[in-house]
Amino acid sequence: METIRKETPMNTEPHFFGRRIGRRIRKAKSALLTNFLPKIILNPQAPLSFAYPVKKVCLEIGFGDGTHLAGLALRHPENGYIGAEVFQNGVANLLSLITGIKEGKDIVGDIKHLPQYRDNIRIFNDDIRLLFPLIPEASIDNIYLLFPDPWPKKRHASRRFINPDNLTEMARILKKDGELLIATDHPIYKRWTLEQLRDSNDFYWTARCGNDWRQEPKDWVSTKYQQKALREGRRPVFLKYQRR
Ligand SMILES: C[S@@+](CC[C@H](N)C(=O)[O-])C[C@H]1O[C@@H](n2cnc3c(N)ncnc32)[C@H](O)[C@@H]1O
Repeated sequence: METIRKETPMNTEPHFFGRRIGRRIRKAKSALLTNFLPKIILNPQAPLSFAYPVKKVCLEIGFGDGTHLAGLALRHPENGYIGAEVFQNGVANLLSLITGIKEGKDIVGDIKHLPQYRDNIRIFNDDIRLLFPLIPEASIDNIYLLFPDPWPKKRHASRRFINPDNLTEMARILKKDGELLIATDHPIYKRWTLEQLRDSNDFYWTARCGNDWRQEPKDWVSTKYQQKALREGRRPVFLKYQRR
């Protein structure tokens, strides 16, 4: 699997604290990682190139099992979607969603994708912080950061994805008026995010009233972690920021 890791000097690589691999990836998904991922893996030399010219470029950071990314990409073939995810089981699941290939089916011959999928997803299967420097300034229309790991303990606060360095990178790559959408169901992460963004000069919060941020945004595809939160009685918030 090609990644940018090889080109990055070891001593400058950011440390990643989450899981890179979980349960054994079974045969069909493993075959997708070998045979299909190379077809849609992001090219570090041309990170914004899709199979055809796209209207908007959207980036989802930590797409998990890929439900939201695949759902939006299928719904909006006019846009291009970059998905970054470290967890290889999640990447394999996204590939299964866009090819329609599930466990239990034998894979024979060339892997095809769903007829309605238009080759508008590019996957970066590593830490987004390695990709940031390769994305041109003011080139992204929307960034989605959905249910990031909350790292609720105070001593782990430096692991939270929302921090001044990552906010600076996201502000750099977003177009003027581009959107950063952060969803969370964790009260500590909610407060943390509000504080971090209040202290940033690059973004403003678009909420007009309390309901704005409790409602799912329009054109939404719900995520695995969102559904888990709702099942367990936690109400997510959707914090929408605009690049100044
Ligand atoms: C709590 S899960 C949420 C997954 C998904 N967004 C959802 O709502 O179902 C957070 C995901 O972010 C990924 N992640 C965390 N830090 C990342 C980074 N720096 N680059 C890429 N992915 C990251 C993790 O591997 C994990 O799959």
